[in-house]
Amino acid sequence: MEFDKKRVVVTGGAGGLGRPLCLAFARDGANIAIIGRNAAAGSEVIESIRTCKRDGYFIHSDFSAPDDAARAVSEAANRLGGLDVLVNNAALALRRGLHDATVDDWTAMLNVNVIAPYFAARAAAHAFTDRGGVIVNISSEMGRLASGQSMLYAVTKAALLHLNACLSVALAPAGIRVVALAPGPFRTPMLESSIQQSGASLEEGLESYAARIPIGRLAETQEVTDAVLFAASDRAGFMTGAVLNLDGGTTVPRV
Ligand SMILES: NC(=O)c1ccc[n+]([C@@H]2O[C@H](COP(=O)([O-])OP(=O)(O)OC[C@H]3O[C@@H](n4cnc5c(N)ncnc54)[C@H](OP(=O)(O)O)[C@@H]3O)[C@@H](O)[C@H]2O)c1
Repeated sequence: MEFDKKRVVVTGGAGGLGRPLCLAFARDGANIAIIGRNAAAGSEVIESIRTCKRDGYFIHSDFSAPDDAARAVSEAANRLGGLDVLVNNAALALRRGLHDATVDDWTAMLNVNVIAPYFAARAAAHAFTDRGGVIVNISSEMGRLASGQSMLYAVTKAALLHLNACLSVALAPAGIRVVALAPGPFRTPMLESSIQQSGASLEEGLESYAARIPIGRLAETQEVTDAVLFAASDRAGFMTGAVLNLDGGTTVPRV
């Protein structure tokens, strides 16, 4: 088991990606703390983690107060008896563009998607031991692509990619690796809500996403969790500051 007794924190661990990600880590031997707002959903995931005979804890935090992410990661590390991996997975995806965003929308998106991951990473860096640790930042292909309609999401996900690069430089001397994922669309409550906000039906929305992906389909959630586990594992021991594009070819430059 690749993560036997490793201590893993997943923000948004009860969400569409977070839940299968926590279970994948647990099946591979890790003990896990979930950080999020929804205690009921969190408790369900904790129960599933415990059926894998691993420890699981839910730590409440609302990243609309983004520095609370530092308190939550420190508390998670205390409960787990230390920390080996942080996954900055929680995110907010309001569909806002040039003409409809307010200052409150900007603040909400920046808090959850950029500032909270910064404070979470800082607390993780303090909690990792001399053996180092790994931070995985879940960004998006939208951090690499311009979008008129989801401008705030694209800008915050681009900022997270640059935070990933800056953290990797700051933390490499301490033996801490920092890796980002830039996935294309995969089916979760976030994607469904995004389609709903666009006014399209779910079926139309899913078809139109698939149609613009060179591979011709959405990612499977397991393809995303597999990439996170790889990035967090010792097999990726020389990888830091990297961005794993998991987008079926969407961001490959073409003529
Ligand atoms: N689904 C896609 O197509 C797609 C594509 C590319 C990248 N991504 C990225 O993948 C990651 C996971 O997304 P998902 O699709 O699984 O979305 P999701 O189902 O909406 O889950 C998002 C999670 O973020 C947490 N969260 C949101 N606001 C929060 C706040 N204020 N404080 C604390 N936690 C908060 C939620 O936790 P609570 O409900 O407990 O608050 C939720 O569990 C995100 O970083 C997303 O940007 C998704």
